[in-house]
Amino acid sequence: MIEATHWHPVAQVTDLRDAPLAAALLGEALVVWRDASGAVHAWRDRCPHRGARLSMGRIVPEAHAAGGARLECPYHGWRFAAGGRCERIPALPGFEPPEGHRATAFEALERCGMVWVRLAEGGRPPPAFPAEDDPRLRKVGCGPYDVDTSAPRVLENFLDLAHFGFVHEGSLGARERPEIEDYRVEDTPTGLLATGCRAFQPVSSIHATGGAVVDYTYEVNVPDSAVLTKAPSDPSAVAIEGFREAIALFVCPTSEETCRVWFRLAMTDFASSDASMRAFQDAIFAEDAPIVASQRPKRLPLDPAAELHCGADRASAAYRRFLKRARVTYGTC
Ligand code: FES
Ligand code: CO
Repeated sequence: MIEATHWHPVAQVTDLRDAPLAAALLGEALVVWRDASGAVHAWRDRCPHRGARLSMGRIVPEAHAAGGARLECPYHGWRFAAGGRCERIPALPGFEPPEGHRATAFEALERCGMVWVRLAEGGRPPPAFPAEDDPRLRKVGCGPYDVDTSAPRVLENFLDLAHFGFVHEGSLGARERPEIEDYRVEDTPTGLLATGCRAFQPVSSIHATGGAVVDYTYEVNVPDSAVLTKAPSDPSAVAIEGFREAIALFVCPTSEETCRVWFRLAMTDFASSDASMRAFQDAIFAEDAPIVASQRPKRLPLDPAAELHCGADRASAAYRRFLKRARVTYGTC
């Protein structure tokens, strides 16, 4: 399965505190935890002793252990060090567990406020989100949102402009102005780029004081993430050539027909609270979620003949072609 070699987002860094966190990826239950040195770990969420969920256990500080901490299983207290090796079996204090006593560890790293995991080696690095490193943009993470459909259905919805007037009537769209002007889509070596995507939006952000035509670009570089850019909502920043706000969509395929979703906002707005920026995004996505969950089949059909298309769907059609090129089968049909 090629998807196992891709990096996927499994948790927001800010949700990772001093207890192990349960996550899921491609049908695999994961436990994600941070040791005392700050390193993040993602393991199969199953104790190799009797199969209890390690995410129900504790992180125990141990100065002499690798990483300065161990993960303790909730059932019999076996303790696992960074890398997965079991170093202590409390019922047998004098026993030194052999090398093969270990939890299954996967590769994990942090990027863009998210923990990324891949289940198998190979594949490309996690997606780029250049706005993350721009100090003129304020970053806010939103989510997680659990959605009862495949990751590709949610990704495609992010690229879809023609639903604004109906699903987001009064905020991102207006029923009276549903038309989508021509926009450009190109296949890129690693995905797709759509530019000149224009839509009338009554309220495009928490600062909007009236309706405006907003110009978006969309970029997809990996199957489950996309980045939208738009002109800054702060009028003083609009004049800077090429300077745009950005929203990244990160989707984790928890199973073939379920997913977990986050947004990463990179905005010129430094005045609003995190809570109010999240509330806006929560409200928008609460409108999308029931619609995408209603789509059948839940898996995204890659055969062009399986569903009907119109000219406004050029970005989603390019996305389907990209998945086909990338040989992504998980969550598609
Ligand atoms: Fe984990 Fe026994 S099941 S220590
Ligand atoms: Co929407």
